Amino acid sequence: MTHHTGHVQGDDVTAFRNFIGGCWVDATDGGTFDDVNPADVRDLVGQFPRSTAADVGRAVASAQRGFAVWSRTPAPARGDVLRRIGDLLTARKDEIAQLMTREMGKPVTETRGDVQEGIDTAYYAGTMGRQLFGHTVPSELRAKWAMSYRRPIGVCGIVTPFNFPMAIPTWKMFPALLCGNSCVFKPAEDVPHTATVLVEIMLEAGLPPEVIQLVHGHGDVGAAIVSHPDVAAVSFTGSTETGSAVGEVCGRMHKRLSLEMGGKNAQIVLDDADLELALDGVLWGAFGTTGQRCTATSRLVLQRGIHDRFLAALVDRAGRLRLGDGRVAGTDVGPLIHAESRAKVESYVAIGAAEGATLALGGKRATGGALDHGFFFEPTIFDGVRPGSRLEQEEIFGPVLSVIRVDSVDEAFAVNNDVRYGLSSSIYTRDVNVAFRALADLDNGITYVNAPTIGAEAHLPFGGVKQTGNGHREGGWQVYDFYSETKVGYVDFSGTLQRAQIDTYLGTPD
Ligand code: UN1
Repeated sequence: MTHHTGHVQGDDVTAFRNFIGGCWVDATDGGTFDDVNPADVRDLVGQFPRSTAADVGRAVASAQRGFAVWSRTPAPARGDVLRRIGDLLTARKDEIAQLMTREMGKPVTETRGDVQEGIDTAYYAGTMGRQLFGHTVPSELRAKWAMSYRRPIGVCGIVTPFNFPMAIPTWKMFPALLCGNSCVFKPAEDVPHTATVLVEIMLEAGLPPEVIQLVHGHGDVGAAIVSHPDVAAVSFTGSTETGSAVGEVCGRMHKRLSLEMGGKNAQIVLDDADLELALDGVLWGAFGTTGQRCTATSRLVLQRGIHDRFLAALVDRAGRLRLGDGRVAGTDVGPLIHAESRAKVESYVAIGAAEGATLALGGKRATGGALDHGFFFEPTIFDGVRPGSRLEQEEIFGPVLSVIRVDSVDEAFAVNNDVRYGLSSSIYTRDVNVAFRALADLDNGITYVNAPTIGAEAHLPFGGVKQTGNGHREGGWQVYDFYSETKVGYVDFSGTLQRAQIDTYLGTPD
C-alpha cells in the first residue's frame, strides 16, 4: 500500500507506515506493534510496522540509489534543504512537542526543547553547506598544489534511542545528509510517531525521496541495518551493552562507527558553592526527563561542610516535584518509558538497600488516581552511597540519585573519575582555580561549571570518554568529520617529474 503520508486514520486506531523506496509502505510481512502513551497505557498512539531484515534490504537498496543522486547535489543546495527543514520544524514546534510527550512522557517544556535542538541542528547544517572546509597547504615541490577535501561516504545506518526522539536523530541525520550521504533510519520502537513526522518534514522540505528511509521495528531491525554490507557507516546511541554488540559487527566489517552510550554523571557541590544554584541544578539534572538522559545527574558528590544542609533541602524540594502527564500544565516529572525500565529502577532500589545505602526519598512506584495507569516512579534519593558500590557505578536510567559525601576537592575528583563512563560532569564552586582544575582533571567529554550535567548545545561537540563512546563526537563542527571521507588531491603543474621526499632534498635546489 502506498500513501502520501506516514499514517492512515482508521476507526479506532491510526496505522503508520515505513518510508522505503520513496513510498509509505507496510512491513513486507504485515506485522505491526503498538505505540502506547507511557503516562496512560490505555492510550494507544498508533500501530507501526514491525519490520524485518527484508524491509531493511529494500531500504538499503533504495538508499544506494538516493546516494547516487544526492552525493552529486552541490553542498550549498543540500544546505538549502536543511534550512527548509528547520523552517518546517519551527512552524510545527508546539504540535510536535505535544505528540512527542504523548508517546515519550517527558513534560511539554522539555519536548519543546527537544524540537528546538532539532531546529538548531538543521540551521547549523544549513550553513555548513557553504563551509565544508578542506585544507590547501603548500607542497614541498615547486609548481605543485596539495589539498584535502571531503567526499560523502554512502548509506548511513542511524539507530536512535527513545529519550530524545527528535534531537538525537537530527544530530545524526542532518550532518550525514549535509555531507551528501543517504540515511536508513531506525528510531526507537517507543517513539515512532515523532520519527514519522520528522521524515514527513524532511520530504516536504525537498529531500529527494530515496535519500531517506524510515524502517520501524525492534532490535532485530537495528541489527539488520548494522550488519548490512552496503551500509557504510553506522551511528548508534543507546546502552553500552548494545553498543558493544554494534561495535563488534562494525569492527569485523570495517565500518565507520560513532557510538554514544552510557553515563554515570556526577554533580560536585563544594563547601563554597552557591547552594541555591546548586540545588536548582541537581533537581533539573537528576529528575528532568525522569532521569532518562545519558547526561542525567545520577551521582551527587557533596563536600562535608554543606552535606547535611544541602541534602535536607534537596529531599524537601525533590519531594515536592509534581508527577503526571507531561501535557498537563504544572507537571515536573513524567513517567518512565515502559514497564521494563521501571522494573530496572526497582531492581536498583533493592540493590542500593542491600548495599547499605540509606533511602532518603522515594524508592517506589508513584500511584493514586491517574498515576495508576502509567509507569510513574517517585524521585528517589539514596544517601551514604559507597564509592565503588553497584548503585554508585552502574547506569540506572531513571530518577535515582546517589549521594556521596567527600572531605576534599581531590576526593571529589577521584569519585567523579572512578567509573567506567565519562560523559558529563558538573562542579559548583566559587573558586576559579578549582573550576579550571575541574576542566583539566575530570575525565569526561563535557564539564559544566556552576551548571548541571545536562544542557549541551547543538553547535558544540557532544560525547564522552571511556565506555561512553568510541572517540567520535556528535554536534558542532566535529560531527562533519565523521560523516565525510577526507580525500587528498595533488596537482603538479611543473610539466616535469618531481619526486617527493627526494628532489627538494637533493641538497642544491636549482
Ligand atoms: C542525552 O542525554 O541523551 O545535554 C542527550 C542534554 C541534551 C542532550 C542530551 N541537550 O541534556
